[in-house]
Amino acid sequence: MEYLAYGRTGLEISRLCFGAGHLNNACENYEAGGKLMLKALDEGITFWDTAEGYGSQPHLGEAVRQINREEVVIQTKTGAKDYEGAMVSITRSLQEMQTDYLDVLLLHGISSPKDLVSREGALEAFREAKAAGKIRIIGCSTHIHTGPVMDAVIDHPELDVILTTANKEGRMLEGGPFDRHLEYIQRAYDLGKGISIMKVIVAGDIPETDMPEWIEWGFNLETAHAINLGISDYHHITLDVGLARASARRRLIQSRAA
Ligand SMILES: NC(=O)c1ccc[n+]([C@@H]2O[C@H](COP(=O)([O-])OP(=O)(O)OC[C@H]3O[C@@H](n4cnc5c(N)ncnc54)[C@H](OP(=O)(O)O)[C@@H]3O)[C@@H](O)[C@H]2O)c1
Repeated sequence: MEYLAYGRTGLEISRLCFGAGHLNNACENYEAGGKLMLKALDEGITFWDTAEGYGSQPHLGEAVRQINREEVVIQTKTGAKDYEGAMVSITRSLQEMQTDYLDVLLLHGISSPKDLVSREGALEAFREAKAAGKIRIIGCSTHIHTGPVMDAVIDHPELDVILTTANKEGRMLEGGPFDRHLEYIQRAYDLGKGISIMKVIVAGDIPETDMPEWIEWGFNLETAHAINLGISDYHHITLDVGLARASARRRLIQSRAA
């Protein structure tokens, strides 16, 4: 597994990120979800992505209570727009994940520049929680949106992390062409933002036999610090960790040759 700096956030993450968006449906209870997370950690996946809205935070909490908190980097999200809603959400995330701090908190699914402006109340709560040590890093996810939304979030000085869509054929992306989107990602990367990519396997909408090729494409994207895959069972962990390790070996050889 490759471990690297998450842009200039000061966090160190595993390049393969456990996307826990599908965990709540896939696991029959929190204990089963916690076990899967612990298996992922055993295999070296130290970067975990979730959201209040996924219902999977308690699964992560079940694992967190059995480890040293510092072993993992937890990124979560809130869709709250106003101050009060975001404060409630932060408290809930901390409780559900049995922790006293969040490594990264994202504004969930920014869909337009106007939407970003509408989250100012939530950002105020983020700032306060950061000052109180409850949050380390602030960022946003842009879901499937590109174009003006990327301009807005990249230019925002307080958003140090961006989770966005990228895959081999630019599928699911809305608001602009894929080659331009890759340029946005490059710009954010050059500014030192932490970059995570999702929809790498189009939310599962590609043939099973093609998965390795699409996942490999993600690992080959130099401007992505983290490849977020929606893992929900042990087979996913085996395949994804194998591909992450192969990519780490390739990148090591390339860096030595350079
Ligand atoms: N707006 C946002 O911030 C946002 C939105 C969406 C997702 N996310 C994050 O991104 C993560 C990934 O979600 P995504 O929508 O981008 O999906 P994805 O990773 O492109 O695809 C995940 C789906 O692919 C299938 N799959 C088949 N082989 C797999 C393998 N080896 N490893 C993983 N999945 C495999 C799984 O479905 P089967 O089990 O049916 O095979 C799984 O549900 C989420 O868990 C979440 O953390 C964030």
